Amino acid sequence: MHENQRAGMFQPHDTALHQPHVGAPRNRVDGRAKVTGAARYAAEYTAPDLAYGHVVSGAIAKGRIRSIDISAAMAVPGVVQVFTHENRPRTAWRSKAYQDEVAPPGTPFRPLYDEKILYSGQPVALVVAEDSEIARYAASLVRVTYEEEKHETDLAKVRAQAYKPPKTRSGMAPPAPRGDAEAGFGAAPVKVDESYRIAIEHHNPMELHASTVVWEGGGRITVYDKIQGVQNTQSYITHVFGLSKDDVHVKSPFVGGAFGSGLRPQYQLFLAVMAALELKRSVRVMLTRDQMFTFTYRPDALQDMAIAANPDGELQAIRHDVIGNTSTFEDYQESIVSWSAMMYHCDNVATTYKLAQTDTYTPGDMRAPGAPTGMFALESAMDELSYRLGMDPLQLRLKNYAEINEGDGKPFTSKELRAAYQLGAERFGWARRNPKPRSMKEGRELIGWGMASGMWEAQMQKTTARATLTIDGKLEVGTATADIGTGTYTILTQIAADALGLPMEKVTALVGDSKLPFSPVEGGSWAAASAGTAVHLACNTVREQLFKYARGMDGSPLANAEIGRVAFRNGRMELISDPSRFVTIQDAMRAGAVDRIEAEETGSPSRITQLRYAAYTHSAIFAEVRVDEELGRIRVTRIVDAVAAGRILNPKTARSQILGGVVFGIGMALTEESMMDHHLGRFMNHNYAEYHIPVNADVHDIDVIFVEEHEDKINPIGVKGLGEIGIVGTAAAIANAVFHATGKRVRHLPITVDRLLEMEDAD
Ligand code: MOS
Repeated sequence: MHENQRAGMFQPHDTALHQPHVGAPRNRVDGRAKVTGAARYAAEYTAPDLAYGHVVSGAIAKGRIRSIDISAAMAVPGVVQVFTHENRPRTAWRSKAYQDEVAPPGTPFRPLYDEKILYSGQPVALVVAEDSEIARYAASLVRVTYEEEKHETDLAKVRAQAYKPPKTRSGMAPPAPRGDAEAGFGAAPVKVDESYRIAIEHHNPMELHASTVVWEGGGRITVYDKIQGVQNTQSYITHVFGLSKDDVHVKSPFVGGAFGSGLRPQYQLFLAVMAALELKRSVRVMLTRDQMFTFTYRPDALQDMAIAANPDGELQAIRHDVIGNTSTFEDYQESIVSWSAMMYHCDNVATTYKLAQTDTYTPGDMRAPGAPTGMFALESAMDELSYRLGMDPLQLRLKNYAEINEGDGKPFTSKELRAAYQLGAERFGWARRNPKPRSMKEGRELIGWGMASGMWEAQMQKTTARATLTIDGKLEVGTATADIGTGTYTILTQIAADALGLPMEKVTALVGDSKLPFSPVEGGSWAAASAGTAVHLACNTVREQLFKYARGMDGSPLANAEIGRVAFRNGRMELISDPSRFVTIQDAMRAGAVDRIEAEETGSPSRITQLRYAAYTHSAIFAEVRVDEELGRIRVTRIVDAVAAGRILNPKTARSQILGGVVFGIGMALTEESMMDHHLGRFMNHNYAEYHIPVNADVHDIDVIFVEEHEDKINPIGVKGLGEIGIVGTAAAIANAVFHATGKRVRHLPITVDRLLEMEDAD
């Protein structure tokens, strides 16, 4: 544990004296590489003898393969091999070997394991050929016959079989009840008791899931994988295929979006590695867009939400009961109900969280897993309650503001949600809102203003980074995390540049390589806090060493100085009180007779902070919608999202994170829905034409405000994370705005034209 973490409180580091880069809106250091195409993604790496794999997807939702005929495919010139469950090479037989770093409890899916079909779209064969067109064509010639069994893919139909997960996924235990929610609800005069549902959504990153496995000879492979954690991929491969770490080098320097779909190694990785090892040649497997709908997704959830208040708006009871869907082989769990126990002051709270199995692939983490789901119910119910009370929705939130974490009684490390409500409301013009639904109109459009709150965990994970300073004045920092488009390269560069007083151009940040120091998967909005802290600590050690050399020089101008009195800037160490007294980096290193200084440090979350405090980010979202009543068309014309998330390392990349999250929320509210044909047990709209992601025409003004939030308990850099808070609460704010515009409450997302016009839920 690092020295300054023992106290559980962090003193602002002396670099605070001179930080030209941290906190400034710097451009992305990888921006040029990305727009010029120099940045390469998993499916863009090649090798001299590269073979191409195409996946054959299964056609039924449940049953077994009766026969699989590969002869026609094998007869196509250029086909190298067709792998099926009948001829695949041996891999680990213990299901535990397939459990990756973020696997939920259960038995992970094992591709081509046996004849059993567990879900529609399951890979049943891999055709490997000399080029991708041949592989794709030959894949169409693989003939599979099935023995079908009755399947069930509708969560509502298996509701009666819901169960409490026998094994809790780490950190996902629902909160303990407090007070008496039944009695509190019964006694309170103003109530809301409704059911809410969201749609299953698929992650749909631009970059298709792909793995290029380069055969290096002698059983060694280099793997370019679309993944949010290269070391997760590496350990999955070593366990499943019985290889040593030295034989498996995984790289993923660029990731074209993931949103959680790249947290777990996906089946194309298994198939590509299997084929490469067996054929002893390089193999690439890239999924098609429709195959992107054959693995993880945000699960369905049936939510019952009951809240009640006394006439002046004080909450008297919150009850939140949820059944989420999982697969038949893993118990996927996410935090849907915990927010209801934390968000507001309320003495009587009870929540339950159960799972029910559907014949689908296992759902997985998707941007803020559970939070936009649960907060859609809670923040819709709060909105409904405000109308029943005749109270402004924002006032109702302020009335029940949680000063401490209501879930466990701990104080927050910091919480500037009140300021977020205020600044957001001011910027939006909330005070000008006519509270009456259907009261605001322009032309043929009804205008609605709605708001909601958001909350997400501010986590940090143990992470190691290395920093290497060379005598040419260049600094390299690295850790095995990923940059999935969030700006990790850039913020690590800023932190490192400021620590040593170098321009950003002199700093190179490295991520996405399994040979770099340990990092967990990039996810949970923890990468900036975790990798950032590790880089900060490693650079500090380099600073200290450098300073020792400088002070030890013969006749050093800094002979009696303390490091806290010295600024690292412009490639030198200067006495703050007298900048004419300085030592350059080069002179210090020469004095120390070294041409490089290297340090590796590990940042861990402070145990004391974890025990004593609750750490969360918060947001206040205000939305304006315009609804064409005749057509039922909804436009989200304005969003103001005020976010309190500790220290903002780079307002430019930070804003982009919130913009992305808000757009995600617009999709969740209005357009995104993976439509299951329950008769076939298959998602039918597996393409961009029919799975509707908000496009430019759907996205209007989004105003992001970062509320000043002093954070000194969570980690030495004061960072809380921003990847996920942008989506939390956004769908609820839009749904609340739709109600304000139309007087119609839609409790089943997305709010499509049919749901708005008919107000009847087909389900
Ligand atoms: Mo995030 S859903 O942890 O990638």
